[in-house]
Amino acid sequence: MIAALTLAALAALTAPPTLDSTRPDVVIADFEGDDYGGWKTTGTAFGEAPARGTLPGQMPVAGYLGRGLVNSYHDGDGSTGELTSPPFRIDREHLNFLIGGGGWEKETCLDLLVDGKVVHSATGPNREPGGSERLRWAAWDVRDLQGKEAVLRVVDQRKGGWGHINVDQIVQTDRPKIPQAASRTIVLQNRYLHIPVKTGAQKVRAKIEGEGGKILHEFDVELAPGEPDFLAFADLESFKGKSVTFRVDEVDDPKALEQIVQADHVPNAAGLYKEPHRPQFHFTSRRGWLNDPNGLVWHDGEYHLFYQHNPYGWGWGNMHWGHAVSPDLVHWTELPIALYPHKYGDWAFSGSAVTDHGNTSGFGKDGKNPLVAAYTSTGRGECIVFSNDRGRTWTEFEGNPVVKHDGRDPRLLWYAPGKHWVMAVYDEDEKVKPVRRSIDFYTSTDLKAWTFASRLDGFYECPDLFELPVDGDPNKKLWVVYAADGQYKLGAFDGKTFTPTSGPDKHTLWHGNFYAAQTFSDEPKGRRIQIGWARDVKFPGSAFNQQMNLPVELTLRTTTDGPRMFAEPVAELDALQQDVKDFSHWKNVTPDKLPPKNLQPEFSLPLNLQVPIYAKSMQDMQRQMRDRERKLKSYDACVIDLAFRPIGAMSLNLKLRGTTLVYDVARQDLSCKQVRAFVPQVDGLVRLKVYVDAGSIEVFANRGQAALSIASLPDAGNHSFEVATVGGAVDLEQLKLYSLQSSWPDGGR
Ligand code: FRU
Repeated sequence: MIAALTLAALAALTAPPTLDSTRPDVVIADFEGDDYGGWKTTGTAFGEAPARGTLPGQMPVAGYLGRGLVNSYHDGDGSTGELTSPPFRIDREHLNFLIGGGGWEKETCLDLLVDGKVVHSATGPNREPGGSERLRWAAWDVRDLQGKEAVLRVVDQRKGGWGHINVDQIVQTDRPKIPQAASRTIVLQNRYLHIPVKTGAQKVRAKIEGEGGKILHEFDVELAPGEPDFLAFADLESFKGKSVTFRVDEVDDPKALEQIVQADHVPNAAGLYKEPHRPQFHFTSRRGWLNDPNGLVWHDGEYHLFYQHNPYGWGWGNMHWGHAVSPDLVHWTELPIALYPHKYGDWAFSGSAVTDHGNTSGFGKDGKNPLVAAYTSTGRGECIVFSNDRGRTWTEFEGNPVVKHDGRDPRLLWYAPGKHWVMAVYDEDEKVKPVRRSIDFYTSTDLKAWTFASRLDGFYECPDLFELPVDGDPNKKLWVVYAADGQYKLGAFDGKTFTPTSGPDKHTLWHGNFYAAQTFSDEPKGRRIQIGWARDVKFPGSAFNQQMNLPVELTLRTTTDGPRMFAEPVAELDALQQDVKDFSHWKNVTPDKLPPKNLQPEFSLPLNLQVPIYAKSMQDMQRQMRDRERKLKSYDACVIDLAFRPIGAMSLNLKLRGTTLVYDVARQDLSCKQVRAFVPQVDGLVRLKVYVDAGSIEVFANRGQAALSIASLPDAGNHSFEVATVGGAVDLEQLKLYSLQSSWPDGGR
C-alpha cells in the first residue's frame, strides 16, 4: 500500500506534459563534432570541420555554445563557400539559432529552404569596421511550415570587410529565443547599485533612468544571467530616496536584471585590496578596467591620479575618468568617478590637469586657484573642465570644445618665459597615405581660447612635454617630448615650437608593458614624476583588470651617448620596505661555512627559503609550518636589490616566484619573457633593482638607465626567490631582499 502510494505521487510529479508548448527541443546541429557530419561544404570558407572558436587573424569570437561553431573566416574574409544540411522535417513551431559575423543579405546568411526556395534568411549584424564577433540568438516562426521537409544553408559569398558568417546551435523548439526589452525600477534606499557582470556574456546597452525617464547613465555591460564573475557598481548617491529604472532594450535572458541589488557599500567592501591577485604596491582600480593615467597633478596637498576607466566591465569600453588621491604617490585612496561621458558614445578620453595659478581662466572661486583639466570628448573635441573642490566635482566650460581636429589626448602646461599655456595634443590625418601622425602645439593665455602654433611629426597618442636639467645643473636644461610608446626626443622648446637636438632617432628608456605615460604637473618638490599604464598586465578571474606602473622620478644624465633620460622609483616607495634580508655580507664569509663571496659556476642560492623547522611535537610542527608559510608569503610583494660583477659567468638568473629574469653577460642584455633591454656593465658592474608584485615584475637597471615592466602572474603556491649563476662565477657586491608592505588602506592582504 505504501509503495503504491509513493509510486502514484511520483507519477503525478513526472506526468508527461500534455501541452504542445512543453514538447522538448530538437537539436538540429550544435557543431561540437570533429567534422560537419552530414552537412556538405563547397568552397573553402567553411574549412573541413566546425571551428573551435576564433580563427587566425579574427577578432575574438564569443557567444557560441560549447567548443565548436560554424565560422566561415577560414583563410580570412577573402574566402567563399556554402555549407548545406541534410534534409529534416519541421515539427516544432520555431527554429532558434545563434548567428554572428557579416550583415550582408544573400551574401553572409543562414537560409531555410523548402522545396528548393528560401523561406527564411538571417544575417549577422556587422557591416562597418569595428563591430563585434559575438553570436546572438535569433528565431524563425515556422508554424506555417509544419511537417514540411527543409534544408538549412549557410552562405558566405562575400569577400572584404565582414565577409564571413558565424552560426551555432540550431534547434527546433516551441519556445522561441527572441531578445526582449527588460527593466527594473528600484527605489533607492542605498548609494550603490551592484550590477552582475560576466565577461563574455551578451553585451547589452543599459540605461539607468531617473524620474521622468531622464537618462542618468548609459553604458555597455556584459550582464550575467547566471553566476557573475564580479559585481560592478553605479554610484547613485545624489538619487537616494528616489526611484531609478535600470533598462535594457534587448536582452536574451532578462533574469540578469533580477540580480541587481542596492547597497550602501561597494561590492566586497571588506575584502577589497585583499583579493588573491591584487597588486599590493601598484595602483589598480577597485573594479573594472583601467588604461591611461590622466590629469596627473599635485594640487592643494594631494597628488591626483585620474585614469581611463570602464566601471562596468573587465575590458576596455565606456570611457570615464576614474580618480584616486595620495599624500605621497604610494598610498592611494580611490574616490568616486570624476568625469562621466557626456552621453553614450561621447566618451571621456585621455587628458591632463593643471592648477591655474593666478586664475588666468577666471574659473576660480573665493580667491583660490582652480584645478583645470583638458580631455578629449570623442563626440565633440578637446574640452576644458574645472573644479573648485579639489577635483571632487567638475564643471564643463560652456565654450567647449576648445579645439576641434582629428586627434586626442591634450596635455596642458604653463610656459613660464612666455607667460602662456601650451596644449600638446595628438593630431592625425588618416586620409593621407601613409597616415600622418603628429603632436600639435597650441597656445593660450586663459585656457579657453587656443591658437595653433606648430606641428611635430612622427608621434602617436598621449603626448607629454617638459623641461629637465642635465645632471641636475639648472643652467643646462633640455626639453623632453614623448608619446604613448614612451620613446623620446630631446631638444629646445620656445613655447611654440619644439626643435630636436638629439638627432633624428628617438631614445628608449622603458621596455615591455608600459604605455601612455604622463608626468605630474606642479610637483611640489620640483621633481618630474611619471606614471605609465602597465598595458596588458591582466588579472583573469578578478573584478579588476590592468595596473599602473610604479611612479618614477625622471632625470637627465650624461652618458657616453650624450644626455639620456633615467627613471627610478620615487623615494617615497622606500617607506614600504620591511624585513630586510641582507646577503651582501656573504662575500666576507669563508666558502666552507656559508655561500662564498663569489657565486660559483652553477650555483643557486635560495633567498627566502631558509626557515628550518625543528619541532617538538606534531602541534608544534603544524604551528611552525604555518609560521613559515606566513613568513614566505610576506615576501610575495618584494624588492631584490642586487649589484654584481660577472667574473666568468655566462649568465646570472633571478628566479622570481616561477618567472626567470636572465642577465646575459656576453650580450649585456637583460630579458624576461618577451621583454629585453640592453644593460651595459658600468665599470664591470651590473645593478638591478627588481620589484615583484602580484601582476608584474619591474626592473630598474643601472640606477634607472633602463626600465623594464613585465606582465607576470606568479605561480600561486610558489613563494621562492633564487639567484643562480650559469657557466662561471659572479662577484656579489650587494644582495638584499626586502618585503614591501601593502600600500592599500587596511594593509591589503
Ligand atoms: C591610449 C588611448 C588614448 C585614448 C585612450 C582611450 O591608450 O588610445 O589615445 O585617449 O586610450 O581610452
